[in-house]
Amino acid sequence: MRRKVIAGNWKMNNDLKETQNLISKLSAGLSNSEVNCDVIVCPPFTSLSEAYALLKDTKIKLGAQNMYFESSGAFTGEISAAMLKSVGCEYVILGHSERRNIFGESDELINSKIKKAITSGLKPIFCVGELLEEREAGIMEEVIKRQVKAGLEGVSSDDMSKLIIAYEPVWAIGTGKTASPDQAQEVHALIRNLIKEKYGAPVSEKIIIQYGGSVKPDNAKELLSQKDIDGALVGGACLKADSFIGIMQGA
Ligand code: 13P
Repeated sequence: MRRKVIAGNWKMNNDLKETQNLISKLSAGLSNSEVNCDVIVCPPFTSLSEAYALLKDTKIKLGAQNMYFESSGAFTGEISAAMLKSVGCEYVILGHSERRNIFGESDELINSKIKKAITSGLKPIFCVGELLEEREAGIMEEVIKRQVKAGLEGVSSDDMSKLIIAYEPVWAIGTGKTASPDQAQEVHALIRNLIKEKYGAPVSEKIIIQYGGSVKPDNAKELLSQKDIDGALVGGACLKADSFIGIMQGA
């Protein structure tokens, strides 16, 4: 049995004061509820240090939303893996569709980031997902296969235990349109099978594959009860402590 992992991607939301508010509501809420899953929050860079200080005595883990693959130097505006480690991050979201589609990140760039994160001791939450037009054109499988294969190029079997994959169909992100449990399960099984082909069954049976895209407290339980759905990567609904905890309770 894989333990479920629920992660909250805050995206570009919450200044320092709002971070303090949300984290104190989350830790207070969690101390009063039965939650049987691992929890990660991924605030923006400017809130990581504060979030780490506030989360120290809780079981909630900290992640960042992006990083660059170089160690240091003239890369204005970028953040390194070591910098993220130094403010308490254990995880880093890489390959999010907003990075791919708004900021033009390629599979190759994402692969370099994944390898750097792993060698630096950060655990990547590696996102893949097809656009609506790709699903409608019948090339969803092809897109997912390409993203998974390219993203994991040169990643060893041992290192796969340090990585989470998140399937986020782009048409379901922030639209209120969730993939049905069957639709999501189909792609999760496809991804697990790709991992099995490359790394073998023991690795594919262990890997955590999260679903993301309009996950809410009222659809979480059904999605999370699917055989190959091992958690959720939550956007909008993680910005309110109640709804984020509601999702955890569905795990
Ligand atoms: P929403 O939950 O707002 O659809 O966002 C999902 C997501 O992109 C998480 O990374």
